[in-house]
Amino acid sequence: MHILVADDDPAQRELLAGFLSRRGHRVTLAADGDEALAAFLREPVQVALLDQRMPGVDGVRVLERMKAQSPMLRAIMITAFGAVETAVNVMKLGADDFLEKPVDLTVLLQKLEQIETDLAVGEDVAQVEQALAAAPLPIDLIGSSPAMQETLSLVRRVADSPWSVLIHGETGTGKELIARLVHLLGPAPQAPFVEVNCAAIPETLFESELFGHERGAFTGAERRHRGRFEQARGGTLFLDEVGELPPSLQSKLLRALQEKRINPVGSEGDISVDVRVVAATNRDLRALVDAGGFREDLYFRLKVLDISVPPLRRRREDIPALIEYFVDRYARRPTRVAPEAKELLVRYHYPGNVRELEHIVQRSLTLARGSVLQPADLPDEVRSAPCEETGLLQERLDAMEHDMLLQALEHSDWVQTQAAERLGISERVLRYKMGKCGIRRRRG
Ligand SMILES: Nc1ncnc2c1ncn2[C@@H]1O[C@H](COP(=O)(O)OP(=O)(O)OP(=O)(O)O)[C@@H](O)[C@H]1O
Ligand SMILES: [Mg+2]
Repeated sequence: MHILVADDDPAQRELLAGFLSRRGHRVTLAADGDEALAAFLREPVQVALLDQRMPGVDGVRVLERMKAQSPMLRAIMITAFGAVETAVNVMKLGADDFLEKPVDLTVLLQKLEQIETDLAVGEDVAQVEQALAAAPLPIDLIGSSPAMQETLSLVRRVADSPWSVLIHGETGTGKELIARLVHLLGPAPQAPFVEVNCAAIPETLFESELFGHERGAFTGAERRHRGRFEQARGGTLFLDEVGELPPSLQSKLLRALQEKRINPVGSEGDISVDVRVVAATNRDLRALVDAGGFREDLYFRLKVLDISVPPLRRRREDIPALIEYFVDRYARRPTRVAPEAKELLVRYHYPGNVRELEHIVQRSLTLARGSVLQPADLPDEVRSAPCEETGLLQERLDAMEHDMLLQALEHSDWVQTQAAERLGISERVLRYKMGKCGIRRRRG
């Protein structure tokens, strides 16, 4: 299993890590609560072994936050000897168990084996995962396809953290929508969400736009102006098209992010601003860094957590629901979409992604004569879309995936750790794929 060990005592940490990895577990170490939370967000941890007393965020708080994001996480709290009262609280918080110091390794092993058996049954885990995925979103967003569900599950996990998030995806995939979702699911949804489009602001105005300026800072600056950073205080600053940020400003932005301080144009002193930064780009930022167009340190600052939004052609399952959604939104009278038109729309490849679909629906609705949208109302490029064989290919790939999963599970006696290993994937991915293919262990 993948186990996170959080303990501020290095000796204890090493002891547990050595012991667990010798027994075939994957171990991630954290020296305090913050590190534990960061590691938890980064890696698909299944079990957390938490020292209750740690400097900074203590084990109980860490657990609370982990469970809020991932109810399926299993946790064992390590408490001081005789601290039964807190242990009871810990159980209430959802820890599966607790161990008293000094940790008896044999007992620890027994507890882990129990967890492993529970996980192998898998069904309740899948259910919890489903329940989490089914919780309503605070925003209109169509996305029940597996590809989008994966993205949304990541959004739910990262939203609550204070770290910056980099969202990447092709044009029109819904990056801005995802950025708003990160904000709304985050710790301060009522705080401001302030957008800066890095491609739309002229270089000369950028600094004052972002950091503000004092009265008289330059000709025409008649009043003091609060920059976007200041406006976003306590909330989220959304840096859209961040790849377009001119080099001269990249270092200024980096400084603001590192020091959480900004210097308004024409001002003597700094002011402190605490904002959560979410950035989006449709460019390959890594390649841009390699080509010298983007500072590497800023890149790493921005992408502490990263989310990729899949192109629409990778989640065609969402197209019918999107059509319905946009028809409802834009039709001036009740309108139906003819099955033949729907078929064409599902087949088209959408280089402009969801935004293109939105425009196509809008345009076709204005052209439609009756209350039914017909193929003739659709733009040429949609009507003449080549009939790709992807349907057939996907069908075969799905069938093959189903068979391979089943075989691996049967061969490993349904022990998911082993099956995942056989397939060369993580257990988490295995469980996800099992859910997607509807594979469950037969009873008896
Ligand atoms: N999953 C979705 N459900 C409903 N509407 C969506 C979805 N994804 C995108 N949209 C809509 O599609 C349009 C484009 O989305 P958005 O502006 O978020 O894309 P983007 O990735 O930021 O695009 P660009 O790269 O051009 O900036 C918006 O009108 C948005 O409301
Ligand atoms: Mg956008």
